[in-house]
Amino acid sequence: VRLNGETIQMYKERILKLLRTSRGGYVSGEQLAAKMGISRTMVWKHIKSLEGEGFGIEAVPSRGYRITSVPDVLRIEDIRSGLKTKLIGRELLLLSATESTNTLAMEMAAKGAPEGVVIAETQTGGKGRLGRKWISPRGNLYLSVILRPALPTHKAPLITLMGAVAAARAIRTTCRVPASIKWPNDILLSGRKAGGLLTEMSAEPERIKHVVLGIGLDVNMEMSELPADVRGLTTTLAVEAGARVDRTELVRQLLLELERWYGVFLSKENDVLREWGALNVTIGNRVAVSGLGDALQGLAQGIDSEGRLIVRQDDGTVRTVASGDVTILKK
Ligand code: BTN
Repeated sequence: VRLNGETIQMYKERILKLLRTSRGGYVSGEQLAAKMGISRTMVWKHIKSLEGEGFGIEAVPSRGYRITSVPDVLRIEDIRSGLKTKLIGRELLLLSATESTNTLAMEMAAKGAPEGVVIAETQTGGKGRLGRKWISPRGNLYLSVILRPALPTHKAPLITLMGAVAAARAIRTTCRVPASIKWPNDILLSGRKAGGLLTEMSAEPERIKHVVLGIGLDVNMEMSELPADVRGLTTTLAVEAGARVDRTELVRQLLLELERWYGVFLSKENDVLREWGALNVTIGNRVAVSGLGDALQGLAQGIDSEGRLIVRQDDGTVRTVASGDVTILKK
């Protein structure tokens, strides 16, 4: 019998499921073989292949096989199996490595790809805001969503705020830590950065053609994988939660929140702004803003309907900023 790759994958998934649902008990090769109608030698081959993927599998003569450890690797079947979304993540591409999920998603969208999601385990040329690099070791999450909203271009910055809301909520639910947002779109925990968002757009003069919403979350990496100069400003979800985070669960929850908040954004965008307001730590504080234009300081009063930051300077003048880096000043 010749099996194609898809069939082999299917058998492997079934073996994995049988082992996992046995709750740590042994399942004999004979049982597995009988349940699937394949030989014990084939079962053994699939077990070896699962070991090759990083699963720890113990084989004890006359008892059978037992899973002892699960690799911290994302698997598309695992993400899909518990996914509760209708749309977001149904088109899903998962890569071991790519230059940048945003770059790839932009290329795919330009060629007509439908709304969908690209995830990579690591990025060789991850992009941050303001032309910076986003260092992307394995163990974290690097995800980009292709969206095609029928909206004017000036609405695009709100998509980043929407994404930040979804990310903060997904982190709160999955890791039980109080994630917050610093304008425009940093994800903070204990005052340190644990993630960021980068939105890219292709547009006609008036109308969005497509948007790629990129989300990078520092999840399970070792802090030593970051250069020393950014280490002090950064934290990871695992550090804050005090335990390794189940990235599969985090992805599912993130896709669910993205679907929810994208829907809210399309129907009632003020509700996104309100939720952003509830999660953010910028408004109401004295801030220093630096970046493209001149630096300024003052009280962060709020954001406007396009997501720009409104700052009241000490001389009373009010300025509106569309991008930049914010430092929250001590009161
Ligand atoms: C920032 O805070 O500077 C934004 C960081 C955005 C990083 C994510 S990781 C997934 C996606 N692909 C990229 O190259 N960048 C975004």
